Amino acid sequence: MNNYIENLHWRYATKKFDSEKEVSEEDLETLLEAIRLSASSYGFQPYEVFVIKDPEVRAKLKPAAFGQPQITDASYLLVFAYNTNVDEKYLDQFVKNNSETRNQPVEDFNGLKEMIQNSVLTFSDDKKEVWASRQVYIALGNLLSAAAELKIDVCPMEGFNPDEFDKLLDLHSKNLKSVTLATIGYRHEDDQLKDAKKVRKSKEELFTRI
Ligand SMILES: Cc1cc2nc3c(=O)[nH]c(=O)nc-3n(C[C@H](O)[C@H](O)[C@H](O)COP(=O)(O)O)c2cc1C
Repeated sequence: MNNYIENLHWRYATKKFDSEKEVSEEDLETLLEAIRLSASSYGFQPYEVFVIKDPEVRAKLKPAAFGQPQITDASYLLVFAYNTNVDEKYLDQFVKNNSETRNQPVEDFNGLKEMIQNSVLTFSDDKKEVWASRQVYIALGNLLSAAAELKIDVCPMEGFNPDEFDKLLDLHSKNLKSVTLATIGYRHEDDQLKDAKKVRKSKEELFTRI
């Protein structure tokens, strides 16, 4: 088995973190870079990520995540929130970033701009939400794989009340809505699930080769 697959077996959605062990700033930066480099539709990255270390803030958020202990016991809590203001102004900013990063005139991106105008910008709010959330989950997946490479534990979490999180973090005023969470840290040696075998569909169930 190669290392990459071994590490994916090693990782698991950690229930009990060791609050005595802290993820280093350097490793955190690597994980955040893995998120930043994630692919997204058109490269639009219609989301932001809040990296929360402050114990008081996490203690306030915990009840809105059904009291799940990972929120306060891990080293960091990440809140992934999608942008609710994906509009012409937002698109212009995106085109500007393309133009500046690649040192090309904005006009070079007219084709890309038009494609986005004719697709994403025509979506209803509901459809935009689904589309943006899908992009978030690509970043979440990258985080899980990158963390496994560094032997850092992550619990991806949808078990929370997004409206309450949005209120507590004042996300509405930033045109954001929370969609998923991830806690980052090190597993506690008492976590009963740490040595549990992976339960997955068989290859036959999952893959159709044509
Ligand atoms: C989007 C998403 C949301 C999840 N929400 C929670 C959660 O709120 N609490 C939790 O303990 N585990 C949560 N999990 C963990 C899953 O239960 C776990 O990933 C799954 O059972 C597969 O096991 P493994 O990741 O340990 O291999 C979530 C996983 C994903 C991908």
